[in-house]
Amino acid sequence: LKIFCGNSNRKLAQEIADYLGISIGEARVKCFQDGELNIGIDESVRGADIFVVQPTCAPANDSIMELLIMIDALKRASASRITAVVPYYGYARQERKSRGREPITAKLMANLITKAGADRLVSMDLHAPAIQGFFDIPVDNLPCVPILAEYIKEKDLENICVVSPDIGGVARARELASRIGATLAIVDKRRPEPNVSEIMHVIGELRDKTAILIDDIIDTAGTITQAAAVLKEKGAKGVYACCSHPVLSGPAIERLEGSVIEEIVITNTIPLAAEEKCGKITVLSVA
Ligand code: R5P
Repeated sequence: LKIFCGNSNRKLAQEIADYLGISIGEARVKCFQDGELNIGIDESVRGADIFVVQPTCAPANDSIMELLIMIDALKRASASRITAVVPYYGYARQERKSRGREPITAKLMANLITKAGADRLVSMDLHAPAIQGFFDIPVDNLPCVPILAEYIKEKDLENICVVSPDIGGVARARELASRIGATLAIVDKRRPEPNVSEIMHVIGELRDKTAILIDDIIDTAGTITQAAAVLKEKGAKGVYACCSHPVLSGPAIERLEGSVIEEIVITNTIPLAAEEKCGKITVLSVA
């Protein structure tokens, strides 16, 4: 068994390797002068069972190309099995045509990963579980909820209500609620245009509750911070938030810092940039 990684989350790859007590395989992942990738595997992988750890997070297009080229190099070097470990699957939110003449980019990614030579995909909390069906190779879609639930249990919070910030996340919120013995509420969110969210209603009782919002992704943090403000208005005595994938683009950190949310618990499927470190954020490892 050998682990390789590109540049998108070397720290996570190292944590996984440490956990397994092995070192990361020798490979160069660099760029030529013109920006084309210069990738090479610097040790024998003939007959080996290979795991390439490479979430396709920002810069997404570079991360994707690194993954594809690395798989191609490993295949051509006679690896016996290649598992693409993509804890955050970029482009997952483009998994269907919501209007005419749009691409289904999540399916295109599946085609590219398979065609490059992957034999299996391991991902975490795919934005839409149906993305598993875009692949004709086995897909493991691992949940982050058990890791988040363990952390929340240790905090000994009382009278908890787990809240899904939209209808699509209800199953995840229900799973967390059942693991920590909490009630459930749902926010009715609309998205008039990409990266803009509007909150319509909250279904469930929040008065005097400790609310824990759970989402798969925090991107611009519009959804989670607006939902948190509404939960406060509905009488929640404290609001926490957690998510699997901290995309954290644009105004996210400013919004989270200025929000009523007391603590934001995220995982390391996507690494935090130095400027994204904020006192309210706790990072849990999925390694
Ligand atoms: C959308 O369906 C996802 O589950 C997240 O709610 C969304 O990606 C969060 O985006 P933002 O943080 O930009 O509101």
